[in-house]
Amino acid sequence: MAPGKSSPVENSWKIFEEYHIDEDVGFALPNPLEELPHPYDAWISIAKNLPELIKNGQLRAEVEKLTTFSIDGLQGHKLQRLAHLVLGYITMAYVWGEGDGDVRKVLPSNIAVPYCKVSEKLGLPPILVYADCVLANWKKKDPSGPMTYENMDILFSFPGGDCGKGFFLVSLVVETAAASAIKVIPIIFNAIQREDPDTLQKALLDIASCLHKVLEMFHQIHEYVDPNLFFNVLRIYLSGWKGNPLLSEGLLYEGVWDTPKKFAGGSAAQSSIFQCFDILLGIQHTIGGDSAAKFLQEMRTYMPSAHQNFLRSLESGPSVRKFVLSKGDATLQEIYNECVQAMVSLRNYHLQIVAKYIVIPASQPSKRKQTSEEPSEPKSKGTGGTDIMEFLRTVRSTTVNSLLKED
Ligand code: HEM
Repeated sequence: MAPGKSSPVENSWKIFEEYHIDEDVGFALPNPLEELPHPYDAWISIAKNLPELIKNGQLRAEVEKLTTFSIDGLQGHKLQRLAHLVLGYITMAYVWGEGDGDVRKVLPSNIAVPYCKVSEKLGLPPILVYADCVLANWKKKDPSGPMTYENMDILFSFPGGDCGKGFFLVSLVVETAAASAIKVIPIIFNAIQREDPDTLQKALLDIASCLHKVLEMFHQIHEYVDPNLFFNVLRIYLSGWKGNPLLSEGLLYEGVWDTPKKFAGGSAAQSSIFQCFDILLGIQHTIGGDSAAKFLQEMRTYMPSAHQNFLRSLESGPSVRKFVLSKGDATLQEIYNECVQAMVSLRNYHLQIVAKYIVIPASQPSKRKQTSEEPSEPKSKGTGGTDIMEFLRTVRSTTVNSLLKED
């Protein structure tokens, strides 16, 4: 564990404050800000009108007109998160343009310099990440109402109509459903330390039932996200410049670095929730150091640093799996397996989603124009840059193999 960091063994939300985890919304940013003070409101004006500016072919010219602002006026975590979100949207739109293959390989210094500075402050890479477009990109319509899809909206949109709203908000409700399971972690660690299998059993049952609710939230994707718009429009704007032949050298951040840099695109693989419960349950994707494990580790570097620290602190907590094994108690093992099985079910369901939203549309001829002579982005790759199905099946197999077998 990082020196001076609290351990989630202590049953207190104070600990979670330090790790930027909220009692109600979990890893999501509670009540994100919507406006930046002057002069940064110029960024907001562009980001708010992104789909229209792209459609009218004005986006890149508007970005190039911007003055280079110092980021000294952006004090505080929430303002910096909003700036990172807005600059991320602008950068994706600038690079991918109309999504027709006419890409930009240089990000002008008026955006690149403040973007890289804000990114450095937050410990995030200078590209749109899940922590931006999902965790910090939402508001409640009725502030006193519930955190349901119907009562929420996103702050910024890409082309593709409501498809982005659907993808980002369904991911967000999945995140918030997981918040109740995160709350149980300190109880679990305390129970192990006190050698209290009864409390552990109850807490693991709570985790399993929360994970079942997380799965229910996942179902909403079909209602709100159109596969063709997702695949042919939104996905382009979430693409990164690592392992992407359209930007094989990466993106040159003018005025920041002399050589282009490669960063993976926005992907829910950058969510902390699956990794959090993998660690808690001792589902180890690190075995053999295969490429799936490496990718998941790499995705951590796209998470807010407080969440990375939380995952590390869980790794140094007591092992639930070892404790369950050491007790040799059939009921406890069964309940532990119920939690692992819930993770298997989540991953099975996710695989079906990926087949519907990526694999099937990828097998159909594209209706979008390709003006560039450069090679198109490989369709078998996720926005995070993985060879999708192989990667996801490997991760699922490791989860299945973590089920405890009866002797
Ligand atoms: C239309 C819906 C979705 C699609 C098409 C999709 C696609 C993908 C793809 C292609 C990957 C591989 C990594 C990459 O290259 O990006 C991935 C990984 C992942 N996705 Fe999704 N995803 C969707 C929704 C979600 C949601 C709502 C969540 C939960 C918040 C989620 C959580 C994850 C996780 C945790 C991984 C890492 C692999 C794992 O731990 O099992 N995805 N997703």
